[in-house]
Amino acid sequence: MALMNWREMHGDAFEGGQALVTGGAGFIGSHLSEALLDLGATVVVLDDLTGGDVANFETYRDRAGDRLRFIEGSILDESVVADAVAGCRWVFHQAAWGSVPRSVAMPDRYHAINATGTMNILEAARGAGVARVMFAASSSAYGDTPTLPKVETMPVRARSPYAANKSYGEALMRAWANSYGDSGLDTASLRYFNIFGPRQNANSAYAAVIAAFAKALLAGERPVIYGDGEQSRDFTFVDNAVHANLLAARHDAPLLGEVFNVACGQRVTVNELAAAMARQLGRPELTPEHKDDRPGDVKHSLADLSLIKQTLGYKPVVAFEQGLAVTVDWYRQIAAGV
Ligand SMILES: NC(=O)c1ccc[n+]([C@@H]2O[C@H](COP(=O)([O-])OP(=O)(O)OC[C@H]3O[C@@H](n4cnc5c(N)ncnc54)[C@H](O)[C@@H]3O)[C@@H](O)[C@H]2O)c1
Repeated sequence: MALMNWREMHGDAFEGGQALVTGGAGFIGSHLSEALLDLGATVVVLDDLTGGDVANFETYRDRAGDRLRFIEGSILDESVVADAVAGCRWVFHQAAWGSVPRSVAMPDRYHAINATGTMNILEAARGAGVARVMFAASSSAYGDTPTLPKVETMPVRARSPYAANKSYGEALMRAWANSYGDSGLDTASLRYFNIFGPRQNANSAYAAVIAAFAKALLAGERPVIYGDGEQSRDFTFVDNAVHANLLAARHDAPLLGEVFNVACGQRVTVNELAAAMARQLGRPELTPEHKDDRPGDVKHSLADLSLIKQTLGYKPVVAFEQGLAVTVDWYRQIAAGV
């Protein structure tokens, strides 16, 4: 499914190594797992299926053979986590509950999974001699500051329990690398900006905007936009997030919990997005229906990519338009039952 030839970009850096991908049955985690398997690694997927689906890795399960091990379990279960991490050189910690509004409704549950769960992963990684933990952080850490682009040196301004959990996760990453580096543990946090692509769940009540638009358009309905649609986002195709994770994992100097933006570095308005998707699906007449602004929505988001470019040699590998075409096509095939 990946557009990328990961071998060309990452050579044999992962060949024969073992990685744990928490949340590997989810959207981003399943793409990461697939890339690692293509690169010759053995992958342990730990996922409790509260948000993911085994269908996300069914397409490559056969190809992977015994190099893919799936453990259905929770990051909150210490013995399960210890089993999953044993023998792993890298941990890609993607497991979490997403959705800002749901986190507002269930702050304690979110804290348990996204914050305590993250500490469980770090503790198990330390005990197992893991070389580096990559953490799925979030651009929600920037809060509602209007300053653009968002630079990692800006203060954290978490405005929801979800954003607070994710920011705390970053703090844990930095603390564990600095406190327990002697055991060989290193960490990095990757602040994802609006990741999209095939396998992103369109059925959740909290579906990301591209998934929600695809679902509406394919059902012959007008996509709903909250506000005037002139809000913009740094929409980032999932292969770019995978690439950033792989670069961080194989970086040859300590990263000590450094926080990196992961994005495309391009701003697209929600109106432009809706028009592009309607065009691609051959339904330009399905113009958006505008509803009231959602309180707390940030007007614009755009990442500064200087740090990740300089430190890890990252640059986006799939442009927004190309990624959108692949994604729309995937939703079309799913809707057609292909
Ligand atoms: N998609 C984005 O735009 C975006 C942006 C910023 C950060 N993130 C972060 O990236 C990560 C992956 O996001 P995604 O979009 O792939 O979401 P996703 O929901 O598809 O994947 C998360 C996975 O974690 C699993 N999970 C949840 N709780 C678990 C638990 N207690 N134990 C084990 N597994 C558990 C779910 O079943 C799911 O498969 C998350 O940490 C998310 O917060 C995503």
